[in-house]
Amino acid sequence: KSAITYVDGEAGVLLYRGYPIEELAQHSSYLEVAHLLMFGELPTPQQYTEFQATVHFHNLLHAQVLSFYHGFRRDAHPMAVMVGVVGALSAFYHDVMDIRNQQQRLIAGIRLIAKMPAIAAASYTYSIGRPQRYPNNTLDYASNLLQMLFGLPSSEYTVDPVLARAMDRILILHADHEQNASTSTVRLAASSGANPFACISAGIASLWGPAHGGANEQVLKMLMEIGRPENIPKTIARAKDKNDSFRLMGFGHRIYKNFDPRSRVIQESAKEVLAHFGHANDPLLEVAVELEQIALKDEYFVERKLYPNVDFYSGIVLRAMGLPMNMFTAIFAVARTAGWVSHWLELHQDASHGIDRPRQLYVGHTLRHYPIKK
Ligand code: CMC
Repeated sequence: KSAITYVDGEAGVLLYRGYPIEELAQHSSYLEVAHLLMFGELPTPQQYTEFQATVHFHNLLHAQVLSFYHGFRRDAHPMAVMVGVVGALSAFYHDVMDIRNQQQRLIAGIRLIAKMPAIAAASYTYSIGRPQRYPNNTLDYASNLLQMLFGLPSSEYTVDPVLARAMDRILILHADHEQNASTSTVRLAASSGANPFACISAGIASLWGPAHGGANEQVLKMLMEIGRPENIPKTIARAKDKNDSFRLMGFGHRIYKNFDPRSRVIQESAKEVLAHFGHANDPLLEVAVELEQIALKDEYFVERKLYPNVDFYSGIVLRAMGLPMNMFTAIFAVARTAGWVSHWLELHQDASHGIDRPRQLYVGHTLRHYPIKK
């Protein structure tokens, strides 16, 4: 049971606490949405100010946390780094974390939302050998993430409002999606009473897979491989070939069988960002639009109700911002933290919730005996 997010896959509806995703993406901000997901209501102006102040209070990384990064190879995948660093936060806050104490649970949740941009940004700046900038509390959440990703410590960083809006939208659209693989992983880990930072680290691990959050990276690799619209038919043929494990990345969804409401919003953002940079004729966008059109008319995809999902266009937006492909899923992880934390809090609000145990259908051997050598 959950009261956080509602999805109607047939109708293409996604509601956070009752509010349609399209309205939130247009009018709200990520931090406001995080408050909505965590507490069930949009904040009043005063609640928003207090919530933001608490996030600001907790958004610095402990200096010893930063030293973990040096243990990784500099070409390590950012998701590998994030699984490790977020899990390692357990070691910093374990003693002040009593799972039965509501206030302590809230602080742990806010710490995670607050620190995630710095954790993700550091996994990028470490890989390119650039010193990490501190959070800037005069900026909103998305702009702050941008300045930590792209700003140089030696000079001012001017936030581009079009990029900030696009990043904010990506964060809102990915903030929650009910019982997906990573959220269920967080809830299952939480049910044992495990440390929240370790639970979220488990969620990051689950998100990483190409069938889940890792798809945005794979979409871009696929579009680059296709390269030109005339190569699309070959790719479609491969996706339909049952002897080939290749799938059209960014297509299909376990729940949405008509359209993914998030993909419409992100498609608009992609066009806005590319036009802003004067890349409205980006060949990758051209390939993406053409691929979408061809697949939407193809009997194979129509019969199986395979439509573009949120990841189909999010990679194009993130690439236009200047992020390398391996950071795409890390940005998804930053966004989904609000959802994971809200589910973790919801689970613990019910004091009677015991440890979960998926039921197994045993398909192995019946009883047999160890062969004793004579
Ligand atoms: N390309 C080609 N065929 C596909 C695809 C695809 N992307 N997706 C599903 N199919 C086919 C599949 O081969 C099967 O055909 P048949 O009935 O002939 O055996 C049929 O459609 C049903 O597939 P399924 O695997 O049973 O469907 P599912 O609901 O278990 O899978 C999915 C959902 C998202 C894992 C799958 O559609 C997929 O692998 N898509 C590509 C990866 C992707 O874009 N993932 C991002 C999901 S949205 C963001 C997120 O949730 O993280």
